[in-house]
Amino acid sequence: MRVVSGIQPTGNLHLGNYLGAIRNWVRMQDEMEAANRAHAAEGGSANNQCLFFLADLHAISQPHDPAELRKATLEMAAALVACGIDPQRSVLFNQAQVPQHAELQWLLSGTARMGWLNRMTQWKDKAGKNREGQSVALFTYPVLQAADVLLYQATHVPVGEDQKQHLELARDIAQKFNNDFAAEDAPVFTLPDPIVPPQAARIMSLRDGMGKMSKSDPSEMSRINLVDDADTVMKKVKKAKTDPEPLPSEEAGLAGRPEALNLVTIYAALSNKSVKDVMSEFGGEGFGKFKPALGELLVETLRPISSRLTELLEDREALDAILARGAAQAREIAVPTLNKTYEALGL
Ligand code: ADP
Ligand code: NA
Repeated sequence: MRVVSGIQPTGNLHLGNYLGAIRNWVRMQDEMEAANRAHAAEGGSANNQCLFFLADLHAISQPHDPAELRKATLEMAAALVACGIDPQRSVLFNQAQVPQHAELQWLLSGTARMGWLNRMTQWKDKAGKNREGQSVALFTYPVLQAADVLLYQATHVPVGEDQKQHLELARDIAQKFNNDFAAEDAPVFTLPDPIVPPQAARIMSLRDGMGKMSKSDPSEMSRINLVDDADTVMKKVKKAKTDPEPLPSEEAGLAGRPEALNLVTIYAALSNKSVKDVMSEFGGEGFGKFKPALGELLVETLRPISSRLTELLEDREALDAILARGAAQAREIAVPTLNKTYEALGL
């Protein structure tokens, strides 16, 4: 298996980013390694591998601030490493540092059809009525996404509901290219299969339990940042909005209590327990008992992450070296595919 996945660079990372996105990658990486070890134990060898990239090229399809993009890309890379993406086990890199992505996008643009891109619901949603005013990149970025995975002969691509159509497009492009330009027994591109990532927790604001926890919320008290120190975390949890009722012992009792549900969801996600198990542990207890337990669990989880994150952000050279090495590894896999593509096209 070769899994390829990209993430939009974003700064000011919070608990929602960790539990909703980054942790899934760490799990995929760990599953790959477990599979490799299982093969090795049986005397075989397996080379299951994850390639993870910061999708910085995608960010320019919409208005953006260059300095902010640079900062967000570095912060996201540091956060990935701090949260457990191991650059020794996975290939971690910036998309823009592997020029083969942009190159392959152009080569695939001869194969992708206008009609296919016109049907992309994300394009329709994002462009709305103002198609004329959009960047060309917003229209063609699904072709860049196709290049992102086809470049590495990805066998599997994790996709959420909103990205399924884009992976279908990548398969259509690969298939048409293979048909038009490759011998039947020597396809240039592997058709990647989707893998549905495990249902990630959706973490809500600590202020009301209704809106999602987000860096764009003006209230600092609404979110737990990955760099928050222990005192700040304890304070934020203590001040998180709740109702006066004790916790129910059944999951059903959380209906209509969004703040309580959110805190229990966070506890469950951090402790790898089901909400049901958390309810049977804390049912009948008030928040006076539950909040300190949640706070401590958060502090325990975030302590190693925030110290590694701070360390990496203060040592730009180390971070740059990690990304440079990842980009070199990625190029090594990408170049043969790109060469085959040029060759097949008569270039
Ligand atoms: P923000 O809302 O803070 O701007 P982004 O939109 O940059 O977050 O999201 C980056 C990644 O983190 C995405 O994969 C997104 O699904 C995930 N994510 C963001 N906020 C949450 C949340 N509150 N709960 C779960 N996942 C989240
Ligand atoms: Na957002």
